[in-house]
Amino acid sequence: MDIKKIVSEMTLQEKASLCSGMTSWETKPVARLGIPSIFMADGPHGLRKQKAQTDHLGLFESIPATCFPAGCATASSFDEELIAEMGKAIATECIASDVSILLGPGTNIKRSPLCGRNFEYFSEDPYLAGKMTAAHIKGVQETGVGTSLKHYVANEQETFRMTISTEVDERTLREIYLAPFEEAVKESKTTTVMCSYNKVNGVYASENKYLLTDILRDEWGFDGFVVSDWGAVNNRLRGLLAGLELEMPATGGVNDAIIVAAVKYGKLDESILDRAVERILKVTFDTVVTKEQKAKYPLDLNQNNKLARQVAGECIVLLKNEDNMLPLAKIKKIAFVGEFFEKPRIQGGGSSHINPYRVTPANESIGLFNASYAKGFLIDSDDTDNELLAEAKKLASESDVCVIFAGLPDRYESEGYDRKHMGMPANQNELIAEIAKTQPNCVVVLHNGSPVEMPWVNDVKAIVEAHLGGQATGAAVMDILSGAVNPSGKLAETFPLRLQDNPSHLNFPGDRDKVEYREGVFVGYRYYDKKEMPVLFPFGHGLSYTNFKYFGINVDKVNALDTDTIKVSVNVKNIGNVLGKEVVQLYVAPKMESVVRPVKELKGFKKVSLNAGAEKTVTFTLDKRSFAFYDANRKEWRIDGGTYTLMVGSSSQDIRVERDITITPVKPVIRPLTLNSTVMDFMGDAKGAAFIEKIKSDSPMLANMGKNDENNPNPMADMIAAMSKEMPIRALGMFSGKHITQAMLDEALK
Ligand code: BGC
Repeated sequence: MDIKKIVSEMTLQEKASLCSGMTSWETKPVARLGIPSIFMADGPHGLRKQKAQTDHLGLFESIPATCFPAGCATASSFDEELIAEMGKAIATECIASDVSILLGPGTNIKRSPLCGRNFEYFSEDPYLAGKMTAAHIKGVQETGVGTSLKHYVANEQETFRMTISTEVDERTLREIYLAPFEEAVKESKTTTVMCSYNKVNGVYASENKYLLTDILRDEWGFDGFVVSDWGAVNNRLRGLLAGLELEMPATGGVNDAIIVAAVKYGKLDESILDRAVERILKVTFDTVVTKEQKAKYPLDLNQNNKLARQVAGECIVLLKNEDNMLPLAKIKKIAFVGEFFEKPRIQGGGSSHINPYRVTPANESIGLFNASYAKGFLIDSDDTDNELLAEAKKLASESDVCVIFAGLPDRYESEGYDRKHMGMPANQNELIAEIAKTQPNCVVVLHNGSPVEMPWVNDVKAIVEAHLGGQATGAAVMDILSGAVNPSGKLAETFPLRLQDNPSHLNFPGDRDKVEYREGVFVGYRYYDKKEMPVLFPFGHGLSYTNFKYFGINVDKVNALDTDTIKVSVNVKNIGNVLGKEVVQLYVAPKMESVVRPVKELKGFKKVSLNAGAEKTVTFTLDKRSFAFYDANRKEWRIDGGTYTLMVGSSSQDIRVERDITITPVKPVIRPLTLNSTVMDFMGDAKGAAFIEKIKSDSPMLANMGKNDENNPNPMADMIAAMSKEMPIRALGMFSGKHITQAMLDEALK
């Protein structure tokens, strides 16, 4: 396809018209040149293709599709292959419905547990978020269907999402918020990127050249097109100049006319428009659904439902399991309580809302158990219904165990607004506390898209975090309760004890105009670790019905250069009686700091399946980036030379084996010595040290540095030593009576 030739044959109007949509979801065709229209539809965890009436808020119904677990759940699987398989299955539904681009996945960071859209996003950790995002995209794009990586970038809240400015420093932006996008763009070559609604440091993401061109294209090599979030365009020309190619949805031609006029009146170089059209056309021709695709990737909804159940099972996190309360297989009489048992909450609200073609509630599998059911509370109310409560209590006290299905109702979390607090509805908390008073064997199953406070955590024996697990979540939960599936999910975000503990607490959601990310890189466990704060459940936590032993950590280089790749291996053995899967997590902890850094950061993970008694060697590869921080002054990723501890374990708070290695940068940072360099800086440099030695005799302060006579101790010695170490060389003159000039310095350092 000669795209340049096609563009050369287009009129100015045709070119401008291609830069915005025809409808809410479709691009414009140009029939005379054989340019097709393509259809874009939400995702991300299933297909949302609207039928007749369209909107981007999830108001009107879409065609029935498989509702897979949402991002909050899939991240907890820590299983890239499985997520890629899910992506591929979603793509088969796109192909069957002639959808060229799936609008997702979203990979914004879970900065606060309150963000209304956290259920759609993956993690508080950029490494995990990046890997899961890339896997999802690879799975979808393997079939030829495109994706739209969103929302680029720094869009971590719903409050004033269309106008607010996220104020974030460069290091934090790079290390935390850009990192998952970077990984996905580089690793999975996403076809399109969707810019976010908000401003970043005062400039709308939709017209931010630094983000859309300098970083995305020039640094990361993105070669698809950038599409606006629906209605995110503020100034069309500024957007086009910055690198925003396609505006969505349709504008009724208003902005197309602005582009045409700008070219005519010399305000916009036509070559910029041509380049945008070329980028749009490349993706259009690459993703238009073909007969061959339909034949190669046939739709099988039953198979997708099975996969939805499998994925949901892999995502469930067993938070607590005292006295091996679960699985329930051997228990005689069970009381199931809570309306979520018959009406599971499977997904969040807003543009990602899928119309599931079937839903399996947990109560469909009640026959597996000797059990009965009481509603206990109404999902649609926060108030206790005393009759329902009394009935549930009675049933619970007459049973051997009570399993309570609780969680957040739809109205508690959705696109469009943020949560106001981290609590569950009062009636549910009361129900759990009341039942726990008379029934010692309580299990709580949670359906929620983000962390909740658990005032009853010590009163129940087991807690199963089912997240928003998609259409088959009910069946998947029963698989876990019965032991048919051994839980293997791990938390992709910390559950703090209380909202106030969260690092963003003082700066969420900001004011009318801006939100400042003042906690910097200390997001999630990076903060709780550094502050040594207790949490409810830590990042990476998740139990199993078996136990794993970690041993024999090895590295292929104990002393490495920062240009080397380092192989780390560790042995993991299933020492229990049943098959299980373990997510082996590798964290890197710097032992020195030239800038303040997190205690440790996730830099590798692998999910391994082990039969009872079996063991495997798990291998990770680390590179420069695994050890680096972003040096905003130098505008580069940088490594401090020194010792790093490699920590491998079962959660961020359950490190089982560790090993130190030393890394030396090939190009260490050399601060040039100036009159403002300190004595310490000089001492770290051969010529500088010689210079200090030379002037020492003139400076009583320097002469005394580090000296203390045992027989005649000088009480000022430590102070003098400390002060002179950090004294700029220019100031030494004041204390030595000898003025140190630039000329002297130049001469000495020559
Ligand atoms: C959302 C996007 C979504 C788009 C189209 C916007 O409101 O932020 O995530 O893809 O609508 O529905």
